[in-house]
Amino acid sequence: MRDAKEAEISAALLDWYDRHARVLPWRVGPAARAGGERPDPYRVWLSEVMLQQTTVAAVAGHFARFTTTWPNVAALAAAPDAEVMAAWAGLGYYARARNLLACARKVANEHGGHFPESAAALAALPGIGPYTAAAVAAIAFDAPETVVDANVERVAARLFAVQTPLPAAKRDLIAIAARLTPERRAGDHAQAMMDLGATICAPRTPDCKVCPVAGFCKGRAEGIAATLPQKAAKPEKPNRYGTAYVARRADGALLLERRPPRGLLGGMLGWPGSEWGPHTNSAPPLAADWREAPGEVRHTFTHFHLHLRVLVTEVPQGANPERGDFTPPAEFQPAALPTLMRKVWLHAQIGFLPR
Ligand code: ADE
Repeated sequence: MRDAKEAEISAALLDWYDRHARVLPWRVGPAARAGGERPDPYRVWLSEVMLQQTTVAAVAGHFARFTTTWPNVAALAAAPDAEVMAAWAGLGYYARARNLLACARKVANEHGGHFPESAAALAALPGIGPYTAAAVAAIAFDAPETVVDANVERVAARLFAVQTPLPAAKRDLIAIAARLTPERRAGDHAQAMMDLGATICAPRTPDCKVCPVAGFCKGRAEGIAATLPQKAAKPEKPNRYGTAYVARRADGALLLERRPPRGLLGGMLGWPGSEWGPHTNSAPPLAADWREAPGEVRHTFTHFHLHLRVLVTEVPQGANPERGDFTPPAEFQPAALPTLMRKVWLHAQIGFLPR
């Protein structure tokens, strides 16, 4: 049950949100919300899926392009897979894009184009975990759900001076966040917690002077706010090595290959290449005079650092690759490639320079 202090904290937070809410493309601000305007569940869902592991700044452009191209869930459900994967390029975690499309199709086909309103029903849809279910239920439908992302964990850990390191502290932080959640305006409250964490209660440099709940903050009172939440040391990421092959045909066409649907960068277009492992082995997609661009491409995934050699070649018009397809220059869109493959493309330019 909420005690008086918890109720005061959430009242102070809502009051701050009413004056300082960030203006975000998917958000119905507090004044419009109080005036009866309701957020579009499609936009709320889309933004929350995009924002997982990604920042507001990184998402804004993709969100605008998605909602212009596919203004509602029926439009997205009808989109070809390859177009949606291309539009997702750069956001990472490509399984999310495949699940996004599966979810849109389920909502369109089995729910009459309307998102269900409860967190439990939302959680039964593809790609919607506990976080997204709670966020969409609270923000789009004002269900009294507690939304806990890394921002909210940080705010909760500081307010109550939780010194147990993450991830062990997770359950305690969820319980704190739940006690702070009001029955009314749960959506605005969730967004207030996230905005506070993203702006004032920042990871290394909390700006306590302007914080609306500084007076309640145990972490601040104890002088340890900036050190919270503590985190258990993560194991070091291993290194993996591979080779990417960039073949250019005489007409300028480039050899690209769609990756298998499962696994890293699943379903995305990329340059043919070797497996990624402790050593790189050679696996060129066609027999040609390959030359290596000096240096390497580095890219960090969730569980490892990748080092790629980049080999380039120029082949005649009749070249017959064992893998992939030649894409004419007019159809080649670097922006439709995942970030790793875009880095390889840039690096390949060095290899193509005249020697
Ligand atoms: N981060 C993730 N979802 C958010 C939202 N709805 N508002 C602000 N920051 C967020």
